[in-house]
Amino acid sequence: MERLVIQGGHRLEGTVQICGAKNAALPQLAATLLSDEPLTLTNVPDLADIRSMLTLMEHYGVVVKGPAHATVTLDAAGARNLEAPYDVVRRMRATVLVLGPLLARFGSARVSQPGGCAIGARPVDLHVKALQALGATVSLDGGTIDARAPEGGLVGGRIVFPTPSVGATETAMMAAVLARGETEILNAARDPEVCDLGACLAAMGAQIEGAGTHRVLVRGVERLRRARHEIIPDRIEAGTYAVAAAITGGHLELTGARLEHLSAVGAALEAAGVQIWPTDRGLMVSRTGRLKGIDITTEPYPGFPTDLQAQFMALMSIADGASMIRETVFENRFMHVPELARLGANVTLQGTTAVVRGVERLKAAPVMATDLRASVSLVLAGLVAEGETVVNRVYHLDRGYEALDRKLVRCGARIRREDA
Ligand code: UD1
Repeated sequence: MERLVIQGGHRLEGTVQICGAKNAALPQLAATLLSDEPLTLTNVPDLADIRSMLTLMEHYGVVVKGPAHATVTLDAAGARNLEAPYDVVRRMRATVLVLGPLLARFGSARVSQPGGCAIGARPVDLHVKALQALGATVSLDGGTIDARAPEGGLVGGRIVFPTPSVGATETAMMAAVLARGETEILNAARDPEVCDLGACLAAMGAQIEGAGTHRVLVRGVERLRRARHEIIPDRIEAGTYAVAAAITGGHLELTGARLEHLSAVGAALEAAGVQIWPTDRGLMVSRTGRLKGIDITTEPYPGFPTDLQAQFMALMSIADGASMIRETVFENRFMHVPELARLGANVTLQGTTAVVRGVERLKAAPVMATDLRASVSLVLAGLVAEGETVVNRVYHLDRGYEALDRKLVRCGARIRREDA
């Protein structure tokens, strides 16, 4: 197992190239299963989660070419409908995204209940509800989701989500594109990754309107065709490097990043005393003055993203004054709190709210990475902690950040990776 050793106290300056979005790429890889013609995706990030999804696609008989230079072509002409293997599924929750495409194309699907980051119960009931609204019969059979379409295939329907779910909206869209008739998805998740899935499916010949809004309309088509689609940049990766610039009092240009996907994050950074502005190539983040404590509430997009909550907690831990961070999306997403406390952060937890009282400085310590975003918050804290911070169990980081240590080192951070 590898660990990162970080020498704190070095200001970051330079340019970071932002990769394609992991959470946009994952559903689009699964969408390959919908078609018997190839799909080429460009700007695909090189990440452990992406490799897991590609392995899963190969398990289904999809022929995968690449990834080479961030481009991958998947041909599902000879795909077979099998049960998703538990050893891949347990690694990553996003494997549940194969349910919709398999059911739409083959009329049935069996997938183990997914694993992934341990950030709360993370049920799949909304995915199941969406499929049922299209006529499927779904049962849970010893930890396996078993879904069957009616005779003649899925039929269009009306899906009303009680709360916007990114994954369930994507399941609904992918199941509906080959269903007979029209599907209306209400209270859909509006995230840019959902919008990008809509654009990819449209390139494949699907008839979709409103992806990225509350109401998505899908008119089922007979079959999909060959397509090529470029994945949007990763707003969470961009937000993470924005925090890296801010926490070190540095100056970073994030090439490829889009400010319009980060409006709540940009507003939070500005309120905290950080400058952020668009450039020709992406955006610039800079801090010269003191950091100010601010209050944040995580919410479905376009609200402040839960995937940047841990990183902002690291930032607030050295701000002037107190900050309140409320987590409303996942109930158990404060695993980084005891680890940040080991570095000297002063955080009090009250249910779903964390109160962070800014301290003068953090001090290095060995810490343990627990989930993807929690891990990166420890790296960010390590960038400013006095002394040598050791972040253990970095495999979580490699699930979601391409070359994190190399990108930071290029901008002046002192980090080495070693075998634990
Ligand atoms: C996606 C992202 C993840 C991000 C999350 C919220 C991917 C691969 N992952 O996860 O990084 O943190 O959005 O922005 O895109 N829920 C249910 N029943 C369900 C599904 C979800 O109750 O069937 C609940 C969840 O427990 C959570 C909320 O809905 O409280 C939002 O979750 P959801 O948007 O579905 O997250 P994911 O798609 O799993």
